[in-house]
Amino acid sequence: MKILITGGAGFIGSAVVRHIINNTQDVVINLDKLTYAGNLESLKSVSDSERYHFVQLDICDRAGLDKVFAEQQPDAVMHLAAESHVDRSITGPAEFIQTNIVGTYNLLEAARAYWNELTDAKKASFRFHHISTDEVYGDLPHPSDESVEYEKSNVECSMLNAELDQNNSKFKIQNSKLPLFLETTAYAPSSPYSASKASSDHLVRAWLRTYGFPTLITNCSNNYGPYHFPEKLIPLVILKALAGKSLPIYGKGDQIRDWLHVEDHARALYKVVTEGEVGETYNIGGHNEKTNLEVVQAICNILDDAFPIQNSKLKIQHYQELITYVKDRPGHDRRYAIDASKIERELGWTPQETFESGIRSTVQWYLDNEDWVTNVQSGAYQTWMSQQYGAE
Ligand SMILES: NC(=O)c1ccc[n+]([C@@H]2O[C@H](COP(=O)([O-])OP(=O)(O)OC[C@H]3O[C@@H](n4cnc5c(N)ncnc54)[C@H](O)[C@@H]3O)[C@@H](O)[C@H]2O)c1
Repeated sequence: MKILITGGAGFIGSAVVRHIINNTQDVVINLDKLTYAGNLESLKSVSDSERYHFVQLDICDRAGLDKVFAEQQPDAVMHLAAESHVDRSITGPAEFIQTNIVGTYNLLEAARAYWNELTDAKKASFRFHHISTDEVYGDLPHPSDESVEYEKSNVECSMLNAELDQNNSKFKIQNSKLPLFLETTAYAPSSPYSASKASSDHLVRAWLRTYGFPTLITNCSNNYGPYHFPEKLIPLVILKALAGKSLPIYGKGDQIRDWLHVEDHARALYKVVTEGEVGETYNIGGHNEKTNLEVVQAICNILDDAFPIQNSKLKIQHYQELITYVKDRPGHDRRYAIDASKIERELGWTPQETFESGIRSTVQWYLDNEDWVTNVQSGAYQTWMSQQYGAE
């Protein structure tokens, strides 16, 4: 099978490319514009494979897309290319509208034109898999909401206990009666990012209904893991802590996210594109609801063990002392939590990582991969790519 992956140089896309090259016989065409978020250094371990090919292209370039489809003749598309950082969408929404909505429209149209010309057999087996986020659903009731009915003692236990627990029990609030996002939950996006992703989901569904174009959609919770660009919470906290800088937490840090290791997400996406039912939506999540504060405290505790503070100039003994609270961002969703039972039931996917094992290995990855981090922080990865591919 030949899979065209858009955004394959990004955080999740590169995990998907590595997963497919390392674990299947499939051919991958990585189509990526190489924005600041695209980093081909994340693909060094697989880029020598004969089954890996890279095309530098903007998904807004329709003529370019037509050429790639004609030349590459893919059997499936996995569409991950997007502007993905909520904070950036608040300060500059235009790029989000352009790439996430207009770009997805262009890709749908280029893929549909190509699909229309396929033989009946190829048409029937072709798949367009759109990768989206749980943020399209808006936010869910939070344990601290007075009006919400839930098993409070259970939730309080999870909220108050900030220590890592190897048995993965202390943070659990899945047994509470708090609602979860289902595939049928109504869309209510809060940020320009999530609104642009919601728009692209609507386009994909409309192309299925109107043209019979064989699409699938997945909506996933927050990912973490290796090769994550350090503007996102987890790598940002790890690197700031190691540099002895303050660790900013929005508001009280009580926003809840459902964390999934990126390699579990990559495995789920491959299952969906190869075994998923056309027209279906699958929610993907890690059963790991954590407050942002819990996540930051967990990272600090791991760093205390793995890289104890030695710099006497810092005048602190534990990384947690670097935590500072900053004004919350506008429209900040308070709780996301995924019901992933459909993909578990229908496709047999379950996450392999617990949050405790995944966060520990992620912190260790950042400690072990100083070159990748240094090249991202200095911008050297972009210089290297522009020498190789003329990327800006
Ligand atoms: N990161 C998460 O926690 C998360 C969770 C659920 C869903 N998602 C979705 O998964 C997808 C990938 O997320 P990510 O975190 O890997 O994002 P990312 O920002 O790390 O990577 C995005 C990639 O898309 C490329 N790109 C951007 N604009 C492009 C354009 N116009 N044409 C071609 N390529 C372009 C970038 O160069 C980059 O390689 C996104 O669609 C995102 O909405 C992300």
